Amino acid sequence: MKVNGKEYRSLWFEDGKLLMIDQRKLPFEFSIFEARSVDDVAFAIKDMVVRGAPAIGCAAAYGIVLAEKNEIEVAFTKLANTRPTAHDLFHALEYMRRKIEEGEDPLDAAEKYVEQIIDKCRKIGEYGETLIQDGARILTHCNAGALATVDYGTALSPMRVAKRRGKKIFVYVDETRPRLQGSLTSWELKNEEIEHVVIPDNAAGYFMERGEVDMILVGADRIAMNGDFANKIGTYEKAVLAKENDIPFYVAAPLSTFDRNLGRGEDIVIEERGEDEIRRIRDTEIFPEWVKVKNPAFDVTPARYVTAFITEKGIIKPDEITEKLF
Ligand code: MRU
Repeated sequence: MKVNGKEYRSLWFEDGKLLMIDQRKLPFEFSIFEARSVDDVAFAIKDMVVRGAPAIGCAAAYGIVLAEKNEIEVAFTKLANTRPTAHDLFHALEYMRRKIEEGEDPLDAAEKYVEQIIDKCRKIGEYGETLIQDGARILTHCNAGALATVDYGTALSPMRVAKRRGKKIFVYVDETRPRLQGSLTSWELKNEEIEHVVIPDNAAGYFMERGEVDMILVGADRIAMNGDFANKIGTYEKAVLAKENDIPFYVAAPLSTFDRNLGRGEDIVIEERGEDEIRRIRDTEIFPEWVKVKNPAFDVTPARYVTAFITEKGIIKPDEITEKLF
């Protein structure tokens, strides 16, 4: 991804350390967080220094590289216990376990995993771009960009390709309370010179009903084999509104986000995050301590609202998800 004209990945391994763009500080401050141990990586995932399903998986893969030889099992457990919903985390850890058992050097294995994820996201961009009309007005929720995937992004990858191919696009970016991942999306779009506006989450229906949204493009954290999927809280209501307003609703995700052991979305574990994320915006208190709050981080959208999934193997309808894909 471009940052002030320079190419960056959201995370990379250098001199025995995992370096990550600190997503907690964007868009106001561009700084790099250094993880030197498994505990540092587990902290970075939990605290959302690094976030987004594929990026969490890649960080965890490097986390295993940082583990002392005699503490590998502890490392697997620590990293698996950071965040429960994104399937990529568990997919990456299983991959690392398999490669280490096969005798592969952990750093080589992690680097290969990351390169594969980047390549999948690049392909998602190629396939997804074909769905974007010149002049399209696209709505997206959360951040499914390069920050969330190491490079290119999932939902943002087709937009990057469309822009590069000279298509004129306009993006509505949901603010995405409470963690404001919309500010990360707008930061990425600004760097790519893609025209956009940030809207409050509850304004999405207003723009859809006025006929100002042509398509919706989001990422996913975990996709069940029947096509139900979990994504950032608020995705479900966008999908229902899209159907009501006859707007195509696309979900861009690599196959690492599909959970082959999960038949339906009802069984997805939804992460509940801390109350402070609701009570404060950045450092400003907006609800006093005595107010009771709830903070589910994800919701599940039933497959019937999904027009299609955009994967590295092509564009597939929910009823086309089969074992043959993997
Ligand atoms: O809580 P987050 O910011 O990790 O949630 C991220 C999302 O919900 C993204 O939409 C999803 O991981 C897809 S990222 C390519």
